[in-house]
Amino acid sequence: MKKVLSVTSECVPLIKTGGLADVAGALPGSLEAQGWHMRTLLPAYPGVADKAGAAEVVFAFDDLMGGRARVLAGSEAGIDVLALDAPHLFDRAGGPYGNPTDFPDNPVRFAALSFAAAQIAAEGLSDNWRPDVLHAHDWQAGLAPTYLRLNGVTDVASVMTVHNIAFQGLAPAAMLGTMALPLSEFTSDKLEYWGQISTLKAGLVDAGAVTTVSPTYAGELMRGEFGMGLEGVMAARAGDLSGILNGIDMDVWNPATDAQITAYSATSLKGKATNRKALVSEFGLSRITGPLAIVVSRLTSQKGMDLIAATAHQFVEAGGGLAILGSGDPVIEDQMRILARNNPGKVGLRIGYDEALSHRMFGGGDVVLVPSRFEPCGLTQLYGLRYGTVPVVAATGGLADSVIDHNIMAQTAGVSTGFQFHPIDEMGLSQCLRRVIAQFSDKSGWTRLQKRGMKQALGWEASSAAYAALYEKLTDERRSST
Ligand code: ADP
Ligand code: GLC
Repeated sequence: MKKVLSVTSECVPLIKTGGLADVAGALPGSLEAQGWHMRTLLPAYPGVADKAGAAEVVFAFDDLMGGRARVLAGSEAGIDVLALDAPHLFDRAGGPYGNPTDFPDNPVRFAALSFAAAQIAAEGLSDNWRPDVLHAHDWQAGLAPTYLRLNGVTDVASVMTVHNIAFQGLAPAAMLGTMALPLSEFTSDKLEYWGQISTLKAGLVDAGAVTTVSPTYAGELMRGEFGMGLEGVMAARAGDLSGILNGIDMDVWNPATDAQITAYSATSLKGKATNRKALVSEFGLSRITGPLAIVVSRLTSQKGMDLIAATAHQFVEAGGGLAILGSGDPVIEDQMRILARNNPGKVGLRIGYDEALSHRMFGGGDVVLVPSRFEPCGLTQLYGLRYGTVPVVAATGGLADSVIDHNIMAQTAGVSTGFQFHPIDEMGLSQCLRRVIAQFSDKSGWTRLQKRGMKQALGWEASSAAYAALYEKLTDERRSST
């Protein structure tokens, strides 16, 4: 079986702050079916090595950017884990990146992760495993393809996946030496970005192929509004850039077996009504007469959460209700608190991170709101489809690729699965919510919309086939050039 090394800072079920972890956790299992064996290199944050039973030393460094380090092999939930045990970098409290403020040495911490990945690719592990492909995720792994080149490794292909271009791995030029980068790398055709180091840019320039997590975001990234300064670099790689839409874990997100809810399916939605009642009572939403909208999200402006705070009053006046779960920007958290306080019985709020509750919300909600200003892929609209919780999304990135708007043509053709709005502003969202209220009163039309969503193919099959095809292409190219 062909071999791929995934390099990531997060991976479900070991460590998660966002969708990257879900994707990293789902890829190994789905790629196995495509003939690719994936091992996943991630930092041994506190508890990670224990949880994965990672004890076998398969690689060792006398000095990895300031201290001794080892790679420990283990496994968890079907994922072949390689935990980078480097206590001077990763054995600390505060989450993977530091909370509430980022650790100042993050550039070095993740340069070390990338460096270790490239060393593994160069030399192989002591259990006789050497990858054919190195797959780097986001800025945290961005330097891995660069270290491959600097090490003169030509027989291992590399893929750089952008999950969110807002995070670029910026570091002052003075850190070049600490990050084991020669000064000759610090040029605008390599990793220099407006006078700083960008580890993401390094990966975008050096990887054999660049992917992102939806076709629409791939196109958007080459434009100024979305590229965040890297649009030129993306455009220069246009021929090697593709968008591969994320899937979801169809076992974890399955309304027919979900332990948090009363079971239901596309053939019988009866259980969903029971879940709705339970959710209404859990959030104290006794005064709603229309659709119950849920929000499960980081509370940030990327996610358009301020748009919800600004437009919700119209929706609740028209009978709608809102159940919100999330945390993030303190200003937006406060906006949400005010919204809930001003709308008792209509808007319920839980600040925090709660996976079990999120399942109950998808089980009981009528719609899920995802008004992101940009969204590389987005996962909650996919959970919404799977649970008959109709997605209401901004027309951008992966949201545009995964939801078919309930417009006249789509209604006539019987293909709509949710609602899209554009422009992504208060007016766009509030007009869309008016459409939702109107459609919700047509019960049979609404049920058809729910059922169509529930029948969508949302798993990883198509996407992992696309990744496998990309790995094949790159390894074939390597073979024919050597
Ligand atoms: P991003 O990674 O940009 O935050 P995604 O939609 O790709 O956005 O992934 C977010 C993931 O985190 C989803 O699995 C979502 O359900 C989960 N999530 C976000 N906020 C919460 C929360 N407060 N409680 C539980 N799960 C959450
Ligand atoms: C990032 C993006 C999100 C995407 C996730 C997984 O967190 O913001 O849109 O779904 O990565 O690819």
